[in-house]
Amino acid sequence: MGNVYLNGKYLPLEDAKISVLDRGFTFGDGVYEVFLVYQRKIFRLAEHLERLDRSLAGIYMKNPRTNDEWKQILKDLVDDNPADNQSLYLQITRGVSERDHSIALAKEPTIFAMSKVLPQRNLVHGISAITCEDIRWKLCDIKAITLLPSVLLRHRAMQAGATEAILFKGDIVTEGAASNVFIVSNGVVKTPPKDSSILPGITRDLVLELLQREGVPCRETSITREELRSAGEIWITSSTWEIVPVIKLDERPVGDGNPGKVWEKAMEIYQKFKSSPD
Ligand code: PDD
Repeated sequence: MGNVYLNGKYLPLEDAKISVLDRGFTFGDGVYEVFLVYQRKIFRLAEHLERLDRSLAGIYMKNPRTNDEWKQILKDLVDDNPADNQSLYLQITRGVSERDHSIALAKEPTIFAMSKVLPQRNLVHGISAITCEDIRWKLCDIKAITLLPSVLLRHRAMQAGATEAILFKGDIVTEGAASNVFIVSNGVVKTPPKDSSILPGITRDLVLELLQREGVPCRETSITREELRSAGEIWITSSTWEIVPVIKLDERPVGDGNPGKVWEKAMEIYQKFKSSPD
């Protein structure tokens, strides 16, 4: 890992210090992004920056940098890390203020970014998932740093010997604790529509775009508990995990218990796009 970025300076992680009165610490008052870097190039940068801008607007914060400035900050971090494939984390909090709910008290945002080597994960053989009630708030389209519900849900999944929790509001699937959800049902790929109950995943949008380009039928539509249970394939998507097949749901096999054919195709198209992303 090279230096990290904190409020205009590049410095070793051990020297990056913030106030205990930072509202990120006292209130979880901030937003974040996770970008992937492949072969030293930031993947879907424009889309991530657009979502960052929307998240900031969603918490009544002015974007503290222009897109060109963000690009430069992130590029400097990438250049400082010798690894070809990296994961970039960017967090912006409302900054330091006395502990008072009023947002007017914070004058300067705190901006922190770091790059780490992208860990090698091999999830292509599939993962187990459990279903859980979606215990999060009503503004899930904001990529907020306030992640306690997701942390608890992931913990429940781990305790059950699974990797991800797939969430429900009533009878309707929302998303995973830190991923979007897709199913394949009678040859049609389905994923919940973008509204405030899910994060508009960059990977989700790209997977839909690439599948549609290949002529695979896709629908953005509500998915019920029964449809999830009886789906031939279930996948989850995120920048860090890409497209992962869920082969067991609540201890029961999904389809024939192996990664499905449509997932194989989606993965193939996704990997092809990654190697020449235009
Ligand atoms: N999480 N939904 C939630 C709740 C998420 O936290 C994430 C990603 C996604 C997928 O979004 P994207 O495809 O843009 O990565 C969906 C990141 C990776 C994280 O919190 O580390």
